[in-house]
Amino acid sequence: MDEIETVLVIDDENGVRESFKMVLKSQYNVLLAETGQKGIEVFKDNAVDLILLDILLPDMNGIDLLERLKGMEPNVEIIMVSAVKEIPMAVKAMKLGAYDYITKPFVVEDIKNVVSRAIEKHSLIKEVTYLKDELLRYHPSKKIIGETKEMKDIFELINNIADSDGSVLIQGESGTGKELVARAIHSQGPRRDKPFVVINCAAIPETLMESELFGHTKGAFTGASRSKVGKLEIADRGVAFLDDVDTLDINMQAKLLRVIQEKEFERLGSTKIIRVDVRFIAASNKNLKKLVQKEHFREDLYYRLNVFPVDVPPLRKRKEDIPLLLDYCLKLQSQKTGKPLKQFSKNAMYILTNQYDWPGNVRELQNLVERLSTIVKDPIIRVEDISFFSHGKQDIVDLPLKEAVSAFEKQYIHEVLKKTHGNRTRAARLLGVHRNTLQNKLYGPSQPEQA
Ligand SMILES: Nc1ncnc2c1ncn2[C@@H]1O[C@H](COP(=O)(O)OP(=O)(O)OP(=O)(O)O)[C@@H](O)[C@H]1O
Ligand SMILES: [Mg+2]
Repeated sequence: MDEIETVLVIDDENGVRESFKMVLKSQYNVLLAETGQKGIEVFKDNAVDLILLDILLPDMNGIDLLERLKGMEPNVEIIMVSAVKEIPMAVKAMKLGAYDYITKPFVVEDIKNVVSRAIEKHSLIKEVTYLKDELLRYHPSKKIIGETKEMKDIFELINNIADSDGSVLIQGESGTGKELVARAIHSQGPRRDKPFVVINCAAIPETLMESELFGHTKGAFTGASRSKVGKLEIADRGVAFLDDVDTLDINMQAKLLRVIQEKEFERLGSTKIIRVDVRFIAASNKNLKKLVQKEHFREDLYYRLNVFPVDVPPLRKRKEDIPLLLDYCLKLQSQKTGKPLKQFSKNAMYILTNQYDWPGNVRELQNLVERLSTIVKDPIIRVEDISFFSHGKQDIVDLPLKEAVSAFEKQYIHEVLKKTHGNRTRAARLLGVHRNTLQNKLYGPSQPEQA
């Protein structure tokens, strides 16, 4: 249930205080103060959302008090109350941040309306402030590791497109770093001080997606007990990151296209046009072009999003980055746990780099390092520590004889290595071959010694 908002009435006339209370108490928690000083005390001790403030108080000037209260809490809404309509005073109050200015005697309905509008505004501001804080909290500026040509091209591309406002479509397999790239584009561009808002298209049920993107007014649909600010509004002047954009249903695709083209929309249940200035970055682990051909994705939206295409290559196509990533993840892991830095043995590193395809890409690599640094007690992570994972038995049926023999040899040698805990000299002795022969059979001629 939503909490009840608190209204503070500061007025020296008992009759005025009591009548405000009569009108508002069914909907709000109403607090009363008969002097400015008392008002300040009550304000300090309570979470007040709105103040009805008399302009003429016995102990201080209402305008000064307005300034003081706003100074203490800029987000509090204040409605000034006066016995006479003095235009210059009203203007001054509004300039100092008052929400409105009303004159006595007042009409009950008017009071209810102005208070409810001010409260509404206040709760929207609270929500936006909260969301912005949250965005900042979840914005760790992470390094993108990579020294291969493939990654250097990506860095250059990020650099080239960061300053533009054109939409970006990032494609790549799951776990390749698409979100990381999107954040880099945001943090290197002119919108870096404005929010980066993630809109997770896959996680949000279709029916809620609209309200998530555009927001809604109180009562817009059953269950909409209060207004909600949409993510696009929060992303104003910043970046909206449409993650898994391929999963948007066809109706939402049409609505999104409209926003990208017109830069405006309405909250659900409202006809007021909200204009926004948002840069769109979309990501997908599907081939969006193919989805267009199959008519699962709108062609016009595809071209709108694909102004700047960025294709993040899978890890197996940039194997030289794997050792760097392994080391980087070990370092992160040690920083996270406060435990001493671990290392991979040269051979373990070799196997992880050359003999595994990483279908889950960097995310899989990260998870593996996290798991290994927890289970392996030794400071060095060795071949036998990763054997469970890197040498699943290959199916050697249907291979040409020579390859079958070679595959079998490898499997057999790994079994023996497991027994000798990775010690190659002992394994070679058990197998009756020279150490170098064993080395060649496993990794080819040029492999370095075990660490
Ligand atoms: N080049 C990289 N350097 C350092 N960390 C990386 C790199 N690429 C990915 N990561 C890390 O791997 C994890 C997965 O990356 P990210 O979430 O960006 O992938 P994604 O492509 O969005 O995946 P999905 O399609 O599954 O959402 C994150 O923790 C990210 O920080
Ligand atoms: Mg992602």
